[in-house]
Amino acid sequence: MPKIRYILAIESSCDDTAAAVMREGELLSNVTAQQIVHSKYGGVVPELASRQHQILITPVVAQALDEANVRLGELSAIGFTQGPGLLGSLLVGTSFAKGLSLSLGIPLIAVHHMQAHVLAHFIEDPKPTFPFLCLTVSGGHTQIVKVTDHLKMEVIGTTRDDAAGEAFDKTGKMLGLPYPAGPIIDKLAREGTPQFTFPKPRVPGLDFSFSGLKTAIRYFLIARMKESDQFITENLADICASVQSTIVTILLDKLELASSETGIREIAIAGGVSANSGLRDALGLRASANGWTTYVPKLEYCTDNAAMIAVTAHFKLLGEQFVGLDVRPAARMAF
Ligand code: KG4
Ligand code: ZN
Repeated sequence: MPKIRYILAIESSCDDTAAAVMREGELLSNVTAQQIVHSKYGGVVPELASRQHQILITPVVAQALDEANVRLGELSAIGFTQGPGLLGSLLVGTSFAKGLSLSLGIPLIAVHHMQAHVLAHFIEDPKPTFPFLCLTVSGGHTQIVKVTDHLKMEVIGTTRDDAAGEAFDKTGKMLGLPYPAGPIIDKLAREGTPQFTFPKPRVPGLDFSFSGLKTAIRYFLIARMKESDQFITENLADICASVQSTIVTILLDKLELASSETGIREIAIAGGVSANSGLRDALGLRASANGWTTYVPKLEYCTDNAAMIAVTAHFKLLGEQFVGLDVRPAARMAF
């Protein structure tokens, strides 16, 4: 009988320290420690993030092993996020993974963070069938990915400036909300009406742009606050609903274009912003109108997590795609 293989996966690309254990594609544990130190700064402070990873990585890995009831000596491979992300943060996870690989004498598997967001759809059923399109929307990226196999994917649309998550977070900053503002705007938007309109970018093809929207929101708020300095407080829910509705429409219009251009109607969303309830609801409506079969990950697999790193490492283990101890993290990384 072939030996059962256990993978320990580590994610440390931004401000979440995470570890997961997987047995032959089955998730045994998934632990995430969110770093709360950044909230008062309005964004992730890279130096603080790497220091926090350094503190959290040992207990987080210990908890993941403990919950999976797996001992270090039973591990067959170590998966880790190589990039893209914050270099100082990536260095902590990479060095930790290298140390374990070296001491346990087991292979090392480098994982692309954005590829892992897409493969979050393979942690649990229902799983998409190939080919499918994945709208991957996070704090650092906004991509439409054409996926033809587990490890075969191509970015067919990307943002030219800000990411969708940044549009949420920067709007939140202008509104005086803490970081990350995406989930707060989502919650407030549910109590509001999208009564304010903002111009949509005119970017040809499948690419996105969110910097114009950011500027439009800033000028809108300055003008309205001149009329009444209570404007934001009195209209917070409606402002959030309006901004969210604009971002969601921009995203789904491009996804619709990508579907019609490729003829692919298996549609998935992934990344932190895919947790947005407005996006999920609007996706459902577009699915009915276009005959799409849609895939939306569980909330814990949308934002950064190590389960998605583990499942990607699982497919790489099957293909024996290992890296040497000379591997280096990369802040920017092509697919
Ligand atoms: O994928 P992720 O956890 O980390 C990155 O790789 O960037 O995404 C984080 C982003 C943040 O910008 C956060 O505000 C946004 O996802 N986000 C949301 C929601 N939950 C997280 N944006 C809108 N609505 C949400 N419910
Ligand atoms: Zn991410």
